[in-house]
Amino acid sequence: MKKLNVGVIGCGSIARKRHIPEFKANPRAEYVGCYDMNLERASYVQENFGGRIYASIEEMLADPAIDAVSVCTSNATHAPVTIDALNKGKAVLCEKPMATSYEECLAMEKTAQECGKLLMIAHNQRFAAAHVKAKELLDSGSLGKVISFQTTFGHRGPEFWSADQSVNTWFFDKTAASMGATADLGIHKLDLIMFLLSDTVQSVSAITDTLDKKDSSGNRIGVDDNMVSILRMKKGAIGTLVASWTYYGDEDNSTVLYCENGILRIYDNPQFPIEVVMKDRSRAYYEVGMIQNNDEKVQANSGVIDAFVDAAIDGTKPAVPLDEAIGAMKAIFACLESSSSKKSVEL
Ligand SMILES: NC(=O)c1ccc[n+]([C@@H]2O[C@H](COP(=O)([O-])OP(=O)(O)OC[C@H]3O[C@@H](n4cnc5c(N)ncnc54)[C@H](O)[C@@H]3O)[C@@H](O)[C@H]2O)c1
Repeated sequence: MKKLNVGVIGCGSIARKRHIPEFKANPRAEYVGCYDMNLERASYVQENFGGRIYASIEEMLADPAIDAVSVCTSNATHAPVTIDALNKGKAVLCEKPMATSYEECLAMEKTAQECGKLLMIAHNQRFAAAHVKAKELLDSGSLGKVISFQTTFGHRGPEFWSADQSVNTWFFDKTAASMGATADLGIHKLDLIMFLLSDTVQSVSAITDTLDKKDSSGNRIGVDDNMVSILRMKKGAIGTLVASWTYYGDEDNSTVLYCENGILRIYDNPQFPIEVVMKDRSRAYYEVGMIQNNDEKVQANSGVIDAFVDAAIDGTKPAVPLDEAIGAMKAIFACLESSSSKKSVEL
């Protein structure tokens, strides 16, 4: 069996905790090597995971032994690095947020189509066990249609996660990150809601703000640290989506769906990943796995790497279809526009 030979660009936290370990654990993939503009980080990866260190992105992309790359760099580089890799004939798994503008998203899609190469965005929430189970329950029809929802992703901030564990992290820098919690965490929940409801966003109203995070000079950072939004979905459901970098305690990664026949709570009850309360107050609990947590040293398999490897080798439609990833990004850009215009935005 021909294995998918993979190179990883960017050797920070997500590469070390997810991409490289999961490529190495996948029998259909071969982790070949990495590149990072910070040589110390590439050396750390080589010491811990083996493989070679490339001298540049160009050198990796020129290597005919590489079939696919993971783009694990800061947000503003996602589009140019992805487009370059596709043009050099590589399949690409690009981290979220896909890009920093809608135009960039479309340019990435166009390049993937023209080159006939796979481009998948690493929207891992749809692979979490409870989300897979929730989708199954919703699709079975037992709960009826979703009337309204609330979904949240909040943690204490990327300065506790990224390779540079300080307020100097690129996540706080407008040029490198472009967007803050809205795109960093909001995109996960937008993709999830669209996936669970098999629906797209009709309109959004949002407030984004920088309420608490400060840089090393004590000034507020250049990107948002909180977003509260109201969504109307095309099929009629309405709900709230909250993204925050200022939950200074446990992470909140919960979603509650209020349906015609009952309520579906996901990662909302600390004991049970899924709790279903039916109209007659009967309850069911599902002990499926917990979701990956930023504070864990070694994360549980996210499923997103395996899905990419399968789609790249088998030539099948990826589990995160590109049009859905772009649809979710469109809603993120609409949230930012709504916050600055103080108006609801139709998509
Ligand atoms: N899917 C998820 O759940 C998830 C979780 C965390 C991070 N991410 C995403 O992954 C990406 C990386 O985040 P991270 O937490 O690993 O950040 P990080 O700061 O830990 O690592 C990023 C690395 O990329 C390198 N880099 C930046 N620009 C580069 C370039 N042009 N060429 C080569 N190397 C470059 C940096 O030197 C750094 O080592 C971000 O876009 C982030 O949003 C996704």
